[in-house]
Order: sequence, then C-alpha cells, then structure tokens
Amino acid sequence: MKTYLNDGWQYFKSWTDDIFGSITGESVRVPHTNVVTPFNNFDESIYQFVSGYKRNLHLQNTVGKTYLLIFEAVAHYAEVYVNGKLAVSHKCGYTAFTADISGYIKDGDNQVVVKVDSRESLNQPPFGFVIDYLTYGGIYRDVYLQEYNGVYVADAFVKAYPDKPVEVEIAFGNFNGECQLRAEISDGDSVAYSCCYTANVPNITLSLPAKLQLWDINNPKLYTLKLVSDGEEYKTAFGVRKAEFKQDGFYLNGSKVKIVGLNRHQSYPYVGYAMPESMQRQDAQILKNKLCVNAVRTSHYPQSHYFVDECDRLGLLVFTEIPGWQHIGDDDWKAQTVENVREMVTQYRNHPSVILWGVRINESQDDNELYTKTNAVARSLDTTRQTGGVRYIRNSNLLEDVYTYNDFNRDGASDRRGICPKNAPYLVTEYNGHMYPTKSFDDSPHRLIHTLRYAKMLDDVFGADKTCGSFGWCMFDYNTHKDFGSGDRICYHGVLDMFRNPKWASGVFSAMGKEPYLEACFTADIGDYPEGVVGDMYILTNADTIKVYKGGQFIRNYTHKDSPYKNMHNAPILIDDLIGDRLITEEGFSKRNSDKTKRCLAAVRKYGFNFLPSKYKLAIAQVMVSQKLSMNKVMELYGKYDNNWGGKANELVIEAYKDGKLVAQKTVGSFYGYSLDVTPSSTTLHETNSYDVAAVSIVARDQNGNVCPYVNKAVKLRAEGAIEIIGDDVIALQGGMFGTYVKTVGKKGKGTLYVDDIEVEFEVV
Ligand code: GAL
Repeated sequence: MKTYLNDGWQYFKSWTDDIFGSITGESVRVPHTNVVTPFNNFDESIYQFVSGYKRNLHLQNTVGKTYLLIFEAVAHYAEVYVNGKLAVSHKCGYTAFTADISGYIKDGDNQVVVKVDSRESLNQPPFGFVIDYLTYGGIYRDVYLQEYNGVYVADAFVKAYPDKPVEVEIAFGNFNGECQLRAEISDGDSVAYSCCYTANVPNITLSLPAKLQLWDINNPKLYTLKLVSDGEEYKTAFGVRKAEFKQDGFYLNGSKVKIVGLNRHQSYPYVGYAMPESMQRQDAQILKNKLCVNAVRTSHYPQSHYFVDECDRLGLLVFTEIPGWQHIGDDDWKAQTVENVREMVTQYRNHPSVILWGVRINESQDDNELYTKTNAVARSLDTTRQTGGVRYIRNSNLLEDVYTYNDFNRDGASDRRGICPKNAPYLVTEYNGHMYPTKSFDDSPHRLIHTLRYAKMLDDVFGADKTCGSFGWCMFDYNTHKDFGSGDRICYHGVLDMFRNPKWASGVFSAMGKEPYLEACFTADIGDYPEGVVGDMYILTNADTIKVYKGGQFIRNYTHKDSPYKNMHNAPILIDDLIGDRLITEEGFSKRNSDKTKRCLAAVRKYGFNFLPSKYKLAIAQVMVSQKLSMNKVMELYGKYDNNWGGKANELVIEAYKDGKLVAQKTVGSFYGYSLDVTPSSTTLHETNSYDVAAVSIVARDQNGNVCPYVNKAVKLRAEGAIEIIGDDVIALQGGMFGTYVKTVGKKGKGTLYVDDIEVEFEVV
C-alpha cells in the first residue's frame, strides 16, 4: 500500500537537535522550498543553510510488515531519523532515496525528522566551483510510505523492443524461498497479456510474448505492467520502442528522426524547485504542444518523474543526465558521481521517453578514469540505451556512444569534422544561451536577432544530414548565481520568460507544429529601430502561404520559399517587399522600373540614404530618367510606399492560409490602447496527494492582440477563498508580460484571483 506523506510537516528554518523534542515549527506541505525567494536581485546565500522537517507517522498493526519511506528528492543532503534514530542519509539533491524504517517504528505515533543541508559547500555534485543555475533547498518532491505485508517487487526493469517478447528483470523484497507472481500488461482499456509464474529465487527475468503497439513521437502508446506477488501490487508504465543514435543520425523504431529539442531547468520563480505534479506536467505540455519540439534535455540533473511521465504520455524524447556543472571534485565527490549514475539509471530506465543517459558532468574536462566508470555503470544497468556526456571541448576522449557537444558558435552550426570522430553519432546539446541573452523587454532589433539565431542553428542542423539533432539553450529564463546572467540573478537565455510567456524566438519552434501559428517579428513603430529603419521583417508561421496587406492594400503572397533558411520546416519568412505591384498599377511604372525601384528602396532601408552604395544611386537615376521623375517625386514615392509615418497607412495585415483556408490573421500597426490578458493554466485545481498550483500568465495586449513589450505597469494581485498567491502580490510587467501562481490551501471550494480588477475563478476539487 502506498500512502503519500506530503502533508502535515513542521518546518524549522534553523536546524537544532531540539527538533527531536516537543518544539513545533511552521506547518508546511511538500513540495516545499526552504525559502521563498524574490523574483530576481537576491543573493544565492539565502537558501544555503541547514533546516529541519518533522512529522508524525501514525501506524497500526506493524508487526511483521515492511515499511519503506521514499523521498523523491531532498536538496541536497538529507538525514532521516525515525524515533530519534538515523534510518538513512542521502547525498544527491536530484534523485530519490528510500529509508527502510521497519526496524525503527512501533504501533501508534512515530516521529520522522529530516535534517536537510542545502549549502553549496557540500562535497558532492554539482558543488565545488561555479554553477550557472541556482540549486535551492528543501524537501521539494513527494514523500510517500510503502507498506508491505508479504513478498513484494522491489524493482522491475522492463525491456521492451519492437518484435521481441517484453523482458522484465524483477528483484523481490522480503523473498522467502518461493513466491507466486502474476504479471499483466494492459493499456488501460484491455489486457494485452497476462501470466502466472512461480519464482524460486529473489531475482528473475520474465519473458512476456505480448503483441504490443509501438511507442513513438506521434503515437506514444503506453502500457502498464502490473505485477502481483503475495497480494502486493507493483505497477510501472512502459512503452515499446527502439532508440538508436547512429553515425548517420538518430533512429526511432528504425525511422530517422531529427531531434529538435530544448534544454529545461526545473526551476520556477519564487519557489525554486518546489512545484507539484501539475506544474511539472505543464512544462512538458508547453514543450510538446506550444513549442512543438520533439525532445528535451533535463539539464543538468534528473528531473521530476511527473515531468518525465508526461514526456512518456506526450511522445517527447528525453535526454537526462547526472547532476554537475563543469567541476570535478575529489575522490569522494567522484564516488558520488558514479553513485548518481546508478541512481539515475535505476530510477528512470522504465520511461520510454528517455533515449540517452548523460554520464559526464556537464562540460567537464576529460577524466578517463571517472568516465570509464560512469559509462560502465550505465551500460551494466541498462543494455537498451546508449550513453552520452555533454562537453564543449573538441576532440575530447569519446568513452560514450554519442558525441554530445555544446556548439556555441556565433554563426550557426559548426562543422562536426573538427569536433568528433568521423564515425561517432553526433548530437548538439546546447546552442545560443549566453551567446545572445535576450530579455522580453529588449528592443525589437535585438529580439529579432535572438530569433534568427535559433533559426540559423536549426536550419544548419537540418541541413547536416548526419547530425542527430540539437537542443537549444534554453526553454525559459532562470535564476542563477552572481557569476552568470545579467547581474540581477537571471539568465535571460530562454525562448520563454520565467513564467513561460513566449519571446519571439519561441515562434521558430512553434512554427514547426500543427496548430495554426502566426507571429510577426517586427513592429510598425519605426522609432524603435536605429535610424528609423525597420530592416528585415520576418513572419513565423506554419501556414503555407501568407497574404500581406499594407495600409489596407494587398501587396503580395509569400511562402516559406521566401526564407533565407532552406533546410528546416516552416522556416521564418522574410518580407522584403511592401510595395507589390503598386508602382505599376498606381504610378504607371514598367515592370522593370518597378523591380529596380523596389530593390533600391530595400537598399535604402538597409543602408540609409546617406550610405546608399552607388550602384543603387545609379539605378534610381536611371528610373528617374526613364519614368521622368523629379527628386521631389522620388521622395514623395518613398514616403507613400515605404517609409510611412504611423497611422493606418503603415498598418500591416498578414493573413495565413493553409490548404487555401484562412487559419490565422495578424495586424501590426500603431498602438491605440491595451488591456490585460489573464490566462490560467487551469481553473480546476485538485487537492489530492498534496496542494495543487495553477500558473497564471498576465500579458498586456494592444487592440490587435499583440503583446505590448514596453508596458511595465504595476499590477495588484489578491486571492480569496480556497487559494493563495505564491510570491509577490504586487508585480510589474516586464516586456508587457509577467505571471503569478496560485496554490490550493487544503480546502475544497471556490477561489478567486483578482488581477487588478480582473477576476479569475478557480474551483478546488
Ligand atoms: C553552457 C552550460 C549551461 C548554460 C549555458 C549558457 O555552457 O552548459 O548550463 O550555462 O552555457 O549559455
């Protein structure tokens, strides 16, 4: 029997042995952060201390039973005491651990105390040098109790390849010579296979010849394996698939798939790592359904099973890795690294979404002895997956199966020939990030360059047939240490902001999805551009054709062929002509003169009048002679057709068509006013194994629905009823966007969030 123990904890911000006595602390629920942080501009020392948690555990009829107390994650070193005795200690902040407390408990009340050390001075990964992310503290993932009466399945590793019987390696607990086991595979609707087996040894391998469908990106078919031994039930989800990194690319079930991914940290504003199930799942949903990527790297540590479960459910490929950041420590530290590999592989190997183990400390130097061990451990515990190890060094020793490389090149993808052996599978595991930090409130030209850097890299990787794929750095902005980021403790490296609001760059990914998508990476406000020159205008869309209108007049159709990026899907479309045939129809120009004039106007936009290369000046002179135009007339035409000031004449309307049908429309024009768009991730919250949280996005939009990037209004937040606000209750929009989180408070019923005077109703069930 599994019982969640997320509720009923008392929290002591400062550790003292008195916690074992009768003193009482603050009532908290898990997931819990040891301190709520400001949004930015805070010092990382604020979460670095030793704290304590205490809880009563009431048990009955305990004699002869086994009790396992499981902590999904405690950051970063934990000692678990039961009735005053140390039951277990654990050193990694990113993997689960179990305390067998059977020998420490009694019928009635039992005291569980957890001492939590969250200091970065700990001698364990990722600590020892600088780290570009915050490491936070607390009991931040679920805690639960497993109670067993008889023989139980302690672990079952499901190896499920296409066209082969499903193999299950089972380890029993409490094994006493013989046990009857029933195995059943079902997909929720029907049972696909079942059998009975008598085990005579504590470790067995079952072969289950079930006919099962494949798990893949588009049809992530999941099955549940249920094992019943001695009345005890064990369940795990799994999927049937073969993932192979080969020297000519990545193959899923025999078909080549270009990996298009993003890196994800597991952090959130205010509460660091401590977010419950729904928020973990939501990040996977954003990746799959909004950003439309097919893969995620859990940089730089194993992440919540809720997140990875959701990746299983949605068909999102996962590259997961051990904790660490560039630094390798002493022998104890290294021993812990090897242990972290063991824990990662044994805890995550049933997830079909996981396709690769990262067994190197991210971006560390070569250490053949250490990495020979980490590879050996991963391979011995899982023969179904390959290993990788993320590096930024060229030609480092490849002890892994896949050369996983962070390609921080300014001009798109590097040529892999100078990076790794010819016959090695090659995967780009990071790009962009610090190469071009971009805030949602940066100006339009900056945000456009950010966007195009993603496009360039993706396009190059699509063009490099043998490259397995790439993971951009990164999904969203994150709080970081003083040594990194913009000085306010934020790395503005995301394609989303910290609240998961989109920046333009996210549209390069979203445009690869199926849902109609249309974004314009420019504004009509020439005053936001140096010299008033808007320059290249890009549209991100998955439509096949866009129709462009200016000042109410149709200009021309554009397609993805009008993109400088030739390899990727639905590449950004470059709008470089806002005149169309108007010079012909309205001014009587010949086609030749019209084309020439448009080329010249494009050059004026690019270089400005004063620096116009002479070939364009000459061309203008030729057109003037041919069309009999005075200089005044030329300036008038420029004003009329190109450089219009504000107002309706400058308004662009973009219509997006797919298979001839209008699927989306966008108007980019002058600003006439805005309103706040408040969108909760869900309005139904669940009080189940713990509290629940909804993310609320708050965005200022103009009359056309476009984000107003320079609205930095202060907004008041207030909650009533069955919810409360996490973090600040007065916020200021950044880049026209911000957010908040509301959490349930242990009761059911209605809750209302007020965002200034906008009401959002929640129902807690
Ligand atoms: C990499 C590192 C990431 C992040 C990124 C920023 O070197 O692996 O964690 O710091 O740079 O671009």
